[in-house]
Amino acid sequence: MKFAKNILCIGAGYVGGPTMAVIAFKCPDCKVTVVDVNEERIRRWNSDDLPIFEPGLLDVVRSARGRNLFFSNAIAEGIRAADIIFVSVNTPTKTFGYGAGMASDLQYWEKTAHEIVANSDRSKIIVEKSTLPVRSAEAMERILQENKRGIHFEVVSNPEFLSEGSAVMDLLEPDRVLIGSRQTESGRKAAQEIAAIFAHWVAAEKIITANLWSAELSKLVANAFLAQRISSINAVSALCEKTDADVAEISFAVGSDTRIGPRFLNASIGFGGSCFKKDILNLVYICRSYGLNEVADYWEAVIEINEYQQERFVRKIIREMFNTIVGKKIVLLGFAFKANTGDTRESPGIHVARKLLEERVLLVVSDPQALENARKDLAGLDGSVEYEPDPYRAAVDAQAIAVITEWEFFKKLDFAKIFASMRKPAFVFDGRNILDHQKLFSIGFNVFPLGKPSLTHFK
Ligand code: UDX
Ligand code: UDX
Repeated sequence: MKFAKNILCIGAGYVGGPTMAVIAFKCPDCKVTVVDVNEERIRRWNSDDLPIFEPGLLDVVRSARGRNLFFSNAIAEGIRAADIIFVSVNTPTKTFGYGAGMASDLQYWEKTAHEIVANSDRSKIIVEKSTLPVRSAEAMERILQENKRGIHFEVVSNPEFLSEGSAVMDLLEPDRVLIGSRQTESGRKAAQEIAAIFAHWVAAEKIITANLWSAELSKLVANAFLAQRISSINAVSALCEKTDADVAEISFAVGSDTRIGPRFLNASIGFGGSCFKKDILNLVYICRSYGLNEVADYWEAVIEINEYQQERFVRKIIREMFNTIVGKKIVLLGFAFKANTGDTRESPGIHVARKLLEERVLLVVSDPQALENARKDLAGLDGSVEYEPDPYRAAVDAQAIAVITEWEFFKKLDFAKIFASMRKPAFVFDGRNILDHQKLFSIGFNVFPLGKPSLTHFK
C-alpha cells in the first residue's frame, strides 16, 4: 500500500511509543515507524507484553501494528525512508561535568541529529518531541544544516503533554497540541504539515501554533506550574498538621475558586515522575545561566519543598512509632510514582524505602505494576526488602503500612482482615490520603493522614 506520509519516531519510550501508536491508529493513511537502539524494547513493542503499562495502549497498538504501525531497530533505514522524524530520545538530568544535577544531558539528542544527517538524502521535517532546554532547536538546526548536500531540514517543536497512566486518553483528547516553528515561509509550512497529522482527530482550535522558543519553553513552564501547585498544597499540609486544619477541606475550598480550579491540589508524599524535577532543574539552570538568580531561586524552592515533604513523611513514621523502627516490618503500599503506571522514576517511594532501610526496618514493597522497577531501584541497598504483589500477604506480621501510591484498588482492601494479621499496635501512614481514616481508626489502627489530625488509640 502507498502511504501519504512516512513518519518515523526515534525513541520508543514512554513518550514515543504511545504517541506514535495513537498517530498510527488515527491516521491510517500514514506509515508510522518507531525505532530504538534498545533491541529488547522493540521486541516487546512487537509482542503483547508491551515494555510500558498504560491503560488502553495494547488495544491501540494491536489495531494498528502491522497495518501502518511498525517497531524496529533499523534506525538508519527508518531515517532514509522518512518524510517527518519525531525525536523522542531521553534527555535526562546531567550526572557529570558542568551543570551536573541540573542541566539536561543532550548527548543522545545530539547523536540522533548526527544520525539523521548521515542517513538523509532528501529534505525532511524534524520534530522535537523530547523536552529540551529553550533554544535547543537552534543547535539541532546547526547540526542538520552542516550536511552540505543541499538538503533542507525544518526543525519544529511539538512538546508532549501526556501524563503517564492516562497517556492514551491524553493523546486521544488533548487539551491542546502545541507546534512551534520558525516564523518563515518554510517554518510555517512545516508547522502546518504537523498540524495536519493531528487534525485527523483534534479540533482545529486546539492546535496552537507558536514560535519555536515559546513552544520549547511552554513545556518547561507547564510542568513547573503543575509541580508548583503540588508543592504549594504540600507546604500547606505541614501547617495543617500543626493547627488541626484539614488539607483536603482547604483544597476543596481554595479549588472552588474558578480562578484557581480544583485539579492538582491533592496533598501527597511528594511528586515524582521523570519530568517535573528534571524540567524544573533545567528551568533553574537556564535562568542561572542568564544571571536570573532570583527567578531561579523561586523555581528551585518547588523542588526543595518536594524533598522536605518526603523527608517529613519518614520522620513522622519514626517519631510516631516510638522513635525506633529497627527490626519492625513496614509495608509500602505502592511504589509507582503515581497510580495506573509501573513507572517508578523519581518515585517518592525510592526515598522512603532508602531511609527506612537505613533505620533497619524489614521492608515489604507491594504494588500491582511496579515491582519489576522497584527491584531495580532498590538493588544494592543494604537491608531486608521483600516484594509481594498481594497486600494481604505483605501485611502479615507487619507493624505499619505506609501508602505511597494512590492505586484505586488499595481503597477497596479488607482492612479488618489486614489488621487482624498485623502486630499491635498497628499503624497506617497515608501518604496519599486515599483511605477511609475513620473506618481504619474504628478497626483499631493508629492512623496518620497527611495534613489532617491524626487518629490514635493512645491515651
Ligand atoms: C524522555 C524524557 O523523559 C522526556 O522528558 C522527553 O520529553 C522525551 O524523552 P521517555 O519516553 O519517558 O521520555 O523516555 P524513555 O522511556 O527513556 O525513552 C527514550 C527511548 O529512546 C529509550 O527507549 C531509548 O532506548 C531510546 N534512545 C535513546 C534511542 O533510541 N537512541 C538514543 O540514542 C538514546
Ligand atoms: C507530567 C505532566 O502532567 C504532563 O503534562 C507532562 O507531559 C509530563 O509530566 P506525569 O509525570 O506523567 O505528567 O504525571 P502527573 O499526573 O503530572 O503527576 C506527577 C506527580 O505529581 C505524581 O507523582 C503525582 O502523584 C503527583 N501529584 C499529582 C500530586 O502529588 N498531587 C496532585 O494533585 C497531582
